[in-house]
Amino acid sequence: LASLKTTLGDYRFDNVFMNASGVHCETAAELDEVAASPAGTLVTKTGTLQPRSGNPEPRFAVLELGTINSMGLPNQGVDYYLAYAEQFQAQHPEQPIFLSVAGMQPSDFPVLAQKIQDSGFTGLTEFNLSCPNVPGKPQIAYDLATTAEILTAIFTAFKKPAGVKLPPYFDLAQFDQVAAILNRYPLTFINSINSRGNGLWIDPETDTTTIRPKGGFGGIGGQYAKPVALANVRAFRQRLRADIGIIGTGGVTTGRDAYELILCGANLVSLGSVLATEGVGAFSRLTTELKAEMAKKGYSRVDEFRGQLNTL
Ligand code: DOR
Repeated sequence: LASLKTTLGDYRFDNVFMNASGVHCETAAELDEVAASPAGTLVTKTGTLQPRSGNPEPRFAVLELGTINSMGLPNQGVDYYLAYAEQFQAQHPEQPIFLSVAGMQPSDFPVLAQKIQDSGFTGLTEFNLSCPNVPGKPQIAYDLATTAEILTAIFTAFKKPAGVKLPPYFDLAQFDQVAAILNRYPLTFINSINSRGNGLWIDPETDTTTIRPKGGFGGIGGQYAKPVALANVRAFRQRLRADIGIIGTGGVTTGRDAYELILCGANLVSLGSVLATEGVGAFSRLTTELKAEMAKKGYSRVDEFRGQLNTL
């Protein structure tokens, strides 16, 4: 039977699936539910230096083919997630997990990095450079000079395994520029993609936006995101150093979708919209579907087809 075992850097996981940061991971109870599912690992909600209540509701909606959200980084604060992660690793020493963090301003990033560096956390840290939903704040990773400055500041303090959560890019010249910057730093992974920022959805009955914050603009996920996610994973796999792994995120609703992200180069596959709409049962369904797809194609391990996309 097909195995979904995978690796990222020196870390090993029994299953390629994990949650996407922001979905089913704001509280210890939600994180415990992901941990108890077939998921191979988990990531916390993005923690900021101070707890945040986020944007006014409604701030999430299910659409025809995905979701829109403008949560605005509601979270319990980095100390909460760091305490959870340290307790988790004491109880599950063989199961590495991810801590997601973000600054509300560039200068927060080295402070977060130092805090995690000084802690007992031995897992992987995902620095979120791509939240599209905080009013007045740009998506950091669209500003390449600021991105480079933040990475330089982070890696001055930080010696533990780290990665960055990236927004979708849409131009091949941008992939070249972003990858050239990322390749200068000791990154263990990237996570591509965050939601497609600042989409808009209108209720046809009322001619009104579906979410309240920012006049209705919000990050788009689910099936709308799939071709963009595939392209981003593929484009970065073609450009990044071989030792930088990739977490593929975006548009996975079937085992075939996950298979395609792996074909494009993903080491792990994370679930956002599908986990928000279906709950943790999505992990067992997709595990079964991905194994069936691999069996159909004659593969027994994910490294047999990772990155093996055919082109014409
Ligand atoms: O779509 C997203 N929503 N991406 C993020 O990085 C943050 C999150 C939120 O809290 O708004």
